[in-house]
Amino acid sequence: MARRCYCCAFSVFAVAVAAEATLFDLDLSSLTKPPLWEPSFEEYFPGREKNEMGLTSPVVLSKPTREEFLFHARRGYPIVVADWAEDMKYTGWSCQDFAEAFPFGYMKAEYIDALPGFKRKHHDIKVIDGELRFKLGSFKPDRKTWWYNFSRPASERYKDDPLKPKQGPYVWHVKDELSPKEKLQVQERFEAPEFLQDPLNKAKMNRSFEVWFSPGAHSGAGAHNDGYCESVVSLQLRGDKRWRKMMLPKMSFLDSFDEFDGGVYEAKKWEPDLGFLNSAKGAVIWPPGYLHETSTLPPPDGKCGSALTLQYAFPQPVQFLRAFLPRLSMSAEVGHCVAMTWSGYATMQLRGIIPSPKEKKMKEQLKKILSLVDLNQDEEITVEETKTWFAKGESLALQSLPDPEFLQHKDLLIMYMAEDTVAYHDMNDDMKISKQELWDSLVQWNVVRVRMQEGLKLLNRADRQGLEAFEQSLDYLRREPLKLPSTVRPEMQDIFKLGKGTKVFKSLKGITSISDSEFWSPARDAVEDLKRRKRAQRKEL
Ligand SMILES: [Fe+2]
Repeated sequence: MARRCYCCAFSVFAVAVAAEATLFDLDLSSLTKPPLWEPSFEEYFPGREKNEMGLTSPVVLSKPTREEFLFHARRGYPIVVADWAEDMKYTGWSCQDFAEAFPFGYMKAEYIDALPGFKRKHHDIKVIDGELRFKLGSFKPDRKTWWYNFSRPASERYKDDPLKPKQGPYVWHVKDELSPKEKLQVQERFEAPEFLQDPLNKAKMNRSFEVWFSPGAHSGAGAHNDGYCESVVSLQLRGDKRWRKMMLPKMSFLDSFDEFDGGVYEAKKWEPDLGFLNSAKGAVIWPPGYLHETSTLPPPDGKCGSALTLQYAFPQPVQFLRAFLPRLSMSAEVGHCVAMTWSGYATMQLRGIIPSPKEKKMKEQLKKILSLVDLNQDEEITVEETKTWFAKGESLALQSLPDPEFLQHKDLLIMYMAEDTVAYHDMNDDMKISKQELWDSLVQWNVVRVRMQEGLKLLNRADRQGLEAFEQSLDYLRREPLKLPSTVRPEMQDIFKLGKGTKVFKSLKGITSISDSEFWSPARDAVEDLKRRKRAQRKEL
């Protein structure tokens, strides 16, 4: 069965060939799909049933084998494993159980500013990264009631929709905010499920988990995207939680929006495509770029529910990343992952592959990859060949590992990386990369990266017309022409107001995307600074 044959008319080719390429000089007839082509939701997530709210259900697995899990997790669409936590020690733990076992922990109280009469001086508080943390073993929001028996309001902004969360949850960042000894105490009770019982995944899950506490009913987080470059798991230990999820919509520079807490509501883009209940013991797994909103059901026994959020190491949702790279690259939360984390899939971890708009350069990249990785020169790359290449010092595979301890299991690591990398390119499920598949994904990567670099230059010069014209000039590389939005995000509007030619940043060195972390946050400060200087200049005159 062809896995990713999206079976759609490909009429844009005719236009494409005739179109005048200014920046890119690609012969599109050499490609299976134009480089900015993306599947629709229905094409990528076929056959999903809709519930009474018109929302699709995720794939639900029960006691999956490793192979089953691998198959679905690589595709990347959201999955529920209904019995993930069946045999875990933490299953059934209430918030009170956590508070009594680990009173030393400090947690973040989401939406604490919405609590009437809240005064920080009344509580045992730590400030971490400029945010308040509250002690599990002593926090009483009203100075009388334990935090796990007390419902606090979520953001006022969420009152318009009964499905949005009404009460604020807590999150305890076990991984970053405990001493090594305390961390060990919390981690020693954590167990990996049967289908991820290998040292790499066990280590990654154990080190990445954080705990969410949801007192009362309708407690949860407003829709947002996480900034992780990997799939995320939310494991319900106690209580039931309703989820709504939304695939990142088609994106251009002008469509950028705040993907942080509730930003998608404000941008009026919230159109969830998945809606479902995750009951206790179940786990929800979703890929980077999938917006999500949570709200707990009223607990029958009134006890505060808990959940773990964690990440595993392999497999990654590589087929999803490959299919939706054009829009993911524009995300304000995960856009940075393209250059920082995912490029190694497209470039097969070769050194010195620089994004280029020129077909000649891309062909050189293709030739170089085939000459180094395709050992028997049959124009097909296998997992075995990729493993051999990744084990060599010349390759970048082992150069920038997210966790240096992974090297203790080098052979397993190389095998998993090789499998994910081959699956990234592989479009017909034979776990081999044909020359055509390599060419298609390599061109996509070059176009996505160059588009980001060129667009960033225009945005950095406050050139709205230039940016719009640039995006429209890429229409021949898309499935259908771009519809430019009439309004842009406030931060972008502020940049354009500076006047064409004003530079936001003196240099774009080190900025690879319009992610919040590397662009929007520093840009906000830079724009304020520019405005201040302009005002000062005016006063002097
Ligand atoms: Fe999240």
